[in-house]
Amino acid sequence: MSAIFNFTFVPWFRSVAPYIHMHRGKTFVVGMAGEAIAAGKLPHIAQDLALIQSMGVKVVLVYGFRPQVNEQLRAKGHEARYSHGMRITDEVALDSAQEAAGQLRYEIEAAFSQGLPNTPMAGSTVRVISGNFITARPVGILDGVDFRHSGLVRKVDVAGIKRTIDLGAMVLLSPFGFSPTGEAFNLTMEEVATSVAVALQADKLIFLTEIPGIRVKPLEGEGEDNPIDTELPLAAAKQLLASLPPAHSPTDTSFYLQHCVKACEAGVERSHIIPFAVDGSLLLEVYVHDGIGTMVVDEKLEELREATADDVGGILQLIEPFEKDGTLVKRDRTEIERDIANYTIVEHDGVIFACAALYPYPEARTGEMAALTVSPQSQGQGDGEKILRRVEQRARAMGLESIFVLTTRTMHWFLKRGFVQVDPEWLPEARKRKYNWDRRSMVFVKKLA
Ligand SMILES: CC(C)(COP(=O)(O)OP(=O)(O)OC[C@H]1O[C@@H](n2cnc3c(N)ncnc32)[C@H](O)[C@@H]1OP(=O)(O)O)[C@@H](O)C(=O)NCCC(=O)NCCS
Repeated sequence: MSAIFNFTFVPWFRSVAPYIHMHRGKTFVVGMAGEAIAAGKLPHIAQDLALIQSMGVKVVLVYGFRPQVNEQLRAKGHEARYSHGMRITDEVALDSAQEAAGQLRYEIEAAFSQGLPNTPMAGSTVRVISGNFITARPVGILDGVDFRHSGLVRKVDVAGIKRTIDLGAMVLLSPFGFSPTGEAFNLTMEEVATSVAVALQADKLIFLTEIPGIRVKPLEGEGEDNPIDTELPLAAAKQLLASLPPAHSPTDTSFYLQHCVKACEAGVERSHIIPFAVDGSLLLEVYVHDGIGTMVVDEKLEELREATADDVGGILQLIEPFEKDGTLVKRDRTEIERDIANYTIVEHDGVIFACAALYPYPEARTGEMAALTVSPQSQGQGDGEKILRRVEQRARAMGLESIFVLTTRTMHWFLKRGFVQVDPEWLPEARKRKYNWDRRSMVFVKKLA
């Protein structure tokens, strides 16, 4: 084995360790669009889910079957019918849905049964258990349209699912539910996944979808200056959703977003939209810092937001002790008042617990993160990291390619978070002129993906 391999593999593997520890024992509900299976992605998705499960995560997998049902319908000479963004399930569609669900269940169970030597599934033992865990009710008649066998989730058998997971099995759910009268109803994968995540109070709801995520400028197309927004706070997600037209197709921006918002509002802290087209997207989202798709996150009681003029007093109070002991350079009230729009803060019950400012240097496509501070009583709980991520987001939205910091004491914190040290000569001209050569701060830069 080459020495180069050791040098790259060992640090890489260690960098994943915190995420493995963090997710052990947690519950993830994964909603897999039927399109992923139609696109031939099932074997790799099964490998990744088996790996995630083997690292102690409890997995509930819900599969969709939209393209497969449509294919069955076409084979029977019928057209798929939709209204209000939902399928109208007549007798033929119900038949097609049952056939598609059965076929997919066998394919998924087969995929989890692979175990050839020298494949990622070698030695894996994933027990997959399906069942009648969902009680459904009919959609009924809406605006004169009879949805027939299309249904909505009425109840989730939480105790049943939990018992099954505790056996060490993966729970597999189809988009079917049953009524107390014994009728089968065609549900949507998205509604089943969301309802199950909420009922279980899962730690994550992850949609494996045909879209790459939500872009920083959601209504504009793909482009270098319009990357995927990796983290969308719940409040921003709700605002965005309110500004979008209702979703009709899975590729509409609001389609998966509406379910993520619903789950987050009902207590699922993190919901993700990730692309199945990227091989290993599940692993990238769960075990890499920035992930690959969009995560809607409920910031809970703490509010992470941009500062306003009312916050100047709170910021001064927070940073003063660190200015006194020399950790931060002195800033006076007028300076903070002037630059208040550059600050991001974490507030809890009206008290500011953390802050940081971003000073852009657009000519050099970079920005300085300054005055990063977390109050001593709440350090070590992730607020520093949270603020850093928000500052990175703000920088990306401004079209910046990196952020930098000047520090005399906190270098390790930045190194751990992807910053690298550079010579002060690297600084943008305008910042270099203000550099205090006596203080000899070290300069660290982080490239934004
Ligand atoms: C640096 C600072 C912003 C981090 O905030 P935080 O909310 O405690 O950070 P997080 O909770 O996201 O991260 C905590 C981790 O960082 C580590 N850490 C905290 N301060 C550190 C420092 N000065 N150097 C290296 N690591 C540090 C903690 O030990 C903890 O590590 P662990 O996860 O392995 O237990 C905060 O400690 C602070 O305000 N320090 C004083 C002001 C300062 O130095 N600002 C930077 C000026 S350039």
